[in-house]
Amino acid sequence: MGSSDAEEALQEVHSQIRRCRRCPLGRARTKAVPGEGAFDAPVMFVGEAPGREEDQQGRPFVGPAGRLLTNLLKTIDLDRRDVFITNVVKCRPPENRDPLPEEIATCNEFLLAQIALITPKVLCTLGRFAGQTLIDKSLSISREHGRARRISGILYVPLYHPAAALHQARLIDHLEADMRQLRQILAREFGASPAEAPR
Ligand code: URA
Repeated sequence: MGSSDAEEALQEVHSQIRRCRRCPLGRARTKAVPGEGAFDAPVMFVGEAPGREEDQQGRPFVGPAGRLLTNLLKTIDLDRRDVFITNVVKCRPPENRDPLPEEIATCNEFLLAQIALITPKVLCTLGRFAGQTLIDKSLSISREHGRARRISGILYVPLYHPAAALHQARLIDHLEADMRQLRQILAREFGASPAEAPR
């Protein structure tokens, strides 16, 4: 598939997400949140589900956890526009409750289509739900955060969710250390910077 075909196909997936009413979350949302960033980003970040501000704006990670994520990216010279950011579930669960297994399963088709079209080289999961959905269903984030593993050509890096670090201050040290390690991983995978990686 050529790059403009992939971009068009990704836009089509995002239109489907905006129209989706397959599960109760899709019927209760204000706006669906497909994700945003470069359609050919070499690095993807996948979180859990939109929160209140994301639901209002239709954009991922724009609330408090998003501001922390944006700042963490800056510490390793990454701009949000250089990466692609999305979630396991594209619509906000009521009161920010955990997404249910059937909601994750229903949305999974969209997430897998995004990964197949963006073809990232490195995919960072944020929190337990993304790690268990994409890496290993029994992944323990407290034991395995920061430990990269390659699956079908993609290097997966499980990270703590930034929202967890907002609630438990000690986790911020882990997240910062894992970001420093991510910088080394990216330097190894891409040379100087993923922004300059061949796409
Ligand atoms: N938490 C997430 O997992 N995703 C968002 O988009 C915002 C907060």
